[in-house]
Amino acid sequence: MHVPSLKEAKIRNKKEVLTKTYENIKESKLEKLGLNKTYYIKTYGCQMNEHDSENIKAILEEMSFKETDTMENADFIILNTCAIRENAHNKVFGYLGRIKHLKQEKEDLIVAFCGCMAQEESIVKELTQKYKWVDIIFGTHNLHELPTILYHALQSKKQEVEVYSIEGDIVENIPVKRANKYKAWVNIMYGCDKFCTYCIVPYTRGKQRSRKPEYIIEEVKALKKQGYLEVTLLGQNVNAYGKDLNSNYKMENLLEDVAKTGIERIRFVTSHPWDFTDKMIEVIKKYPNIMPYIHLPLQSGSDRILKLMGRRYTKEEYLKLYQKLKEALPYSSITTDIIVGFPGETRKDFEETLEVVNKCQFDSAFTFIFSPRVGTPASKMEDNISLEEKNNRLQELNKLVNKYAKERNDWYLNKTVPVLIEGFSSKDETKLMGYTDTMKLVNVDGDKKYIGQIVDVLITDIKTWSMDGKIKTD
Ligand code: SAH
Ligand code: SF4
Ligand code: F3S
Repeated sequence: MHVPSLKEAKIRNKKEVLTKTYENIKESKLEKLGLNKTYYIKTYGCQMNEHDSENIKAILEEMSFKETDTMENADFIILNTCAIRENAHNKVFGYLGRIKHLKQEKEDLIVAFCGCMAQEESIVKELTQKYKWVDIIFGTHNLHELPTILYHALQSKKQEVEVYSIEGDIVENIPVKRANKYKAWVNIMYGCDKFCTYCIVPYTRGKQRSRKPEYIIEEVKALKKQGYLEVTLLGQNVNAYGKDLNSNYKMENLLEDVAKTGIERIRFVTSHPWDFTDKMIEVIKKYPNIMPYIHLPLQSGSDRILKLMGRRYTKEEYLKLYQKLKEALPYSSITTDIIVGFPGETRKDFEETLEVVNKCQFDSAFTFIFSPRVGTPASKMEDNISLEEKNNRLQELNKLVNKYAKERNDWYLNKTVPVLIEGFSSKDETKLMGYTDTMKLVNVDGDKKYIGQIVDVLITDIKTWSMDGKIKTD
């Protein structure tokens, strides 16, 4: 049994990170563990977690489990959780309540709890004390050990807790069952060393560890060969890629090498403004297969709050970078993340955030109310703003964000843009859907033979969060 410790998770050791290779499951006792059994996985959180679930699925299928799309039919339920805000916590525990009922009806049901919440000391304590019926708990650092953890749980018939606070080595070649046939997520790094004062991620995901470039390039080349058209390079702070490798190989080098593979579309998330270099901008400009889309979290427009957040840039520096990006890449779309109601945020601080939004006129923004996370410095800061006031600020901000999102979209009316057609629209089965190079969702009229192709689409109507269009076939 290994339980997580917040104190240990905070430590950044100098130990060299090694690269290991995932061994396919060769032991027959594990290979057949899931024979005639189904699994259902529910994923919360960011793209990193979605991608982890793609790994978990493939690992389970190597153990003969088959996927089912309803929780009620499953023999094995996995909750891959997120710890970023309190509401994620509430959702997961609500869901656990539903599973408990199923577990009472179905004795053989196996339940696993993993992901970022499993890395939290207080959560594991709660699970070991009040949710003894949850069979296995494992963390973000050892999902590749799932087969043996599961085997032991079934043998011992006791709750198996295997969560490490210290990250360990990088494991390559973990199998993956990708959700999309044309777009793929590719991790380029794990963890985060930024320690923004409000954020739990550096504790739940460990120290920054970049994958070796050769593994990343090989993965992209293999994806291209399999017919994938788009890759999204994933990391909490991709611009810091390579800083932990003992070489001069940085994000701009990786972007360039990935571009040279010739894969049609390359995206990358998330960019921390602090590490965005001029060289990166040059590379993005130089290669047409690097998409003109940048997610550049602002968090706050007030220097005072930015300092308290530990973001390491000022409002002026953010605006300067924004300007530089827009000058170099005028066609690009830029989106952001903003937190309102950080401890001590005054009306004046908030207005400075609005001012930056007015200046940048973002294509879109994810906006959040500050949520105190146990163990982070911001959770101990004095917070005297009422929830009502925070809600009002959020609404005021959202109104402004939506106005600019619509205006940015309006520019597209009657223009022709490239769209990767992914499939049928979930809201209207008679339409196709896809994303532009600038990451705008388009519902498209056209023949289904275009699914899996990047085609020219004439934009015919604009909404705040999407557009309509039709395929140009001339
Ligand atoms: N690595 C990314 C962020 C990942 S979390 C980055 O640095 O940009 C996604 C977003 O969640 C953050 O950008 C932030 O806006 C929000 N967030 C993180 N912790 C939060 C908290 N404690 N309360 C509210 N929002 C939070
Ligand atoms: Fe969290 Fe900051 Fe790291 Fe992003 S950069 S994951 S907000 S600590
Ligand atoms: Fe959530 Fe963990 Fe991602 S906390 S946002 S799932 S890195």
